[in-house]
Amino acid sequence: MNQPETLITLQAAVNAPNHVRHVRLLRWVREIASLTQPERIHWCDGSAAEYDLLCAELVRAGTFRKLNEAKRPNSYLAWSDPSDVARVEDRTFICSERQEDAGPTNNWMAPHEMRATLTPLFTGAMRGRTMYVVPFSMGPLGSPIAHIGVELSDSPYVAVNMRLMTRMGRGALDVLGEAGEFVPCVHSVGAPLAPGQKDVPWPCNKTKYIVHYPETREIWSFGSGYGGNALLGKKCFALRIASVMGRRDGWLAEHMLILGVTRPDGRKYHVAAAFPSACGKTNFAMLIPPRGFEGWKVTTIGDDIAWIKPGADGRLYAINPEAGYFGVAPGTNEQTNPNCMAALKRDVIFTNVALTDDGDVWWEGMTKEPPAHLIDWQGKDWTPELAKATGAKAAHPNARFTVAATNNPALDPAWDDPAGVPIDAFIFGGRRSSTVPLVTEARDWVEGVYMAATMGSETTAAAFGQQGVVRRDPFAMLPFAGYNMADYFGHWLALGERLATSGATLPRIFQVNWFRKDAEGRFVWPGFGENLRVLAWMLERIDGTAAGEEHLIGVSPRHADLRWDGLEFSEAQFAAVISIDHDAWQAELKLHDDLFEQFAQGLPAALTATKARLAAQLAARLAG
Ligand code: OXD
Ligand code: MN
Repeated sequence: MNQPETLITLQAAVNAPNHVRHVRLLRWVREIASLTQPERIHWCDGSAAEYDLLCAELVRAGTFRKLNEAKRPNSYLAWSDPSDVARVEDRTFICSERQEDAGPTNNWMAPHEMRATLTPLFTGAMRGRTMYVVPFSMGPLGSPIAHIGVELSDSPYVAVNMRLMTRMGRGALDVLGEAGEFVPCVHSVGAPLAPGQKDVPWPCNKTKYIVHYPETREIWSFGSGYGGNALLGKKCFALRIASVMGRRDGWLAEHMLILGVTRPDGRKYHVAAAFPSACGKTNFAMLIPPRGFEGWKVTTIGDDIAWIKPGADGRLYAINPEAGYFGVAPGTNEQTNPNCMAALKRDVIFTNVALTDDGDVWWEGMTKEPPAHLIDWQGKDWTPELAKATGAKAAHPNARFTVAATNNPALDPAWDDPAGVPIDAFIFGGRRSSTVPLVTEARDWVEGVYMAATMGSETTAAAFGQQGVVRRDPFAMLPFAGYNMADYFGHWLALGERLATSGATLPRIFQVNWFRKDAEGRFVWPGFGENLRVLAWMLERIDGTAAGEEHLIGVSPRHADLRWDGLEFSEAQFAAVISIDHDAWQAELKLHDDLFEQFAQGLPAALTATKARLAAQLAARLAG
């Protein structure tokens, strides 16, 4: 007769420390180990000693290079395989039971079909490698807004990055206890080692799958070791799976930074802002007040993702589910983001930036004058002359830094508060050279949702094809919503309605555009720290003290409504960034039609009605 399985035998089977008493977790680890057949299993405790040990192993393996301790203490540089440098959206799947639940913008495959595809790939995939068991909390440990995940990965690079990016290790296991809920995340670089086979510095596989099963809340990732493909707490869990959890349970998982603004009178506000990539999100999250705003303070709670739940008082409270920043290095410098540069002085993992001759790092835009010689991200000699002649980049354009939030000198004191911070406003932005004004406030929640649903950004990178084309990116969530975008709009509308009926004060909704250009193609608005002038107006709108002018798509300030101390910005310049061109808006509304056609199945009637109202008002204005 079979003996009943004891906790001790189960722990022994997966090399678990004896404080791990979560039977479901232990059985799952055993199941994945028997599928992927790793040589050994290591349970990450999240300690500094473990981090140092794993980094030393990565140096020995040739994945990491230790940077000059005098110049960049406790920091490392990794160069990835040239085929594995970014998120792979075309290999990212939402495998809901019904295709319509994934919607028209997600890749979809039926779960049984995907499982049949993945099982052979994962069979023996970790042979010759260590499987790291990485328990992590998305959000402050024990916070009612936080959730736990466990990633099983055969990449030590993932393990050390997860320690910087999440609350990883023993603390997360303690929160999980003996029966807590967790999101299971399985990750393999897909490069098993035969006995005696020498490893490469960046193992990966040509075949890649980044797979989400929303109904069972599982994540399976194969073939890539890079960023959002591999650090599964970030886009996969905190956005795709969490958005599904939020829809079911009445909360929001958003692609938003969170910042605190404290006025000289001590009053503090919190805003959450969504921008598609390449719109200066990290710079905004770490904004330094400009001249004329002495005594103001801007502090970072998060730079990329916000989890937002209604509190007992009906207000929306946000946490940053992450604990670190995985930011794009190129373009970051002392002018664009001094706080970020300060955060990167030590304790950083750099990926795909260039190496200087004295063992430090460099990327395009870091300094005005590039060093005379570098080793580029592919390990080749690089000089400014070569770059001029061939266009060769020293750093990959998507080169990244990974750094703990605690390195940020502008970190908000409440960033780790389990209760979260109350959100006063949502901001939606994009990169538009015309049409969308510097700032406009939605007149109500539905109009705000309309603005966010129709937001778009002009392409800047060759990777997206033609330059200057507007890509619609509703809520900056298009690649990150784990379900049908039309249902996602509906969820925002329903949540707003529910909160409003309960008598709660909803956050105000604003749309911004820092990127309007003049006839010569130059940016008109100075941006960066000066964006605080716009933020300050928003705060006064929230207080009911700021004036504005109503127009076709909301309410915007007039020149006199913003504070100009410390900046020369004429009425004519202001008109160039704030004006509403009705002809341009006629073309814009046609593009909204195209977008809504794409989401026709399930599109909330409130959005079509808002569109119809705007079209009618525009027709009247054009006729008048
Ligand atoms: C990111 C992204 O890396 O949005 O944060 O692509
Ligand atoms: Mn992002």
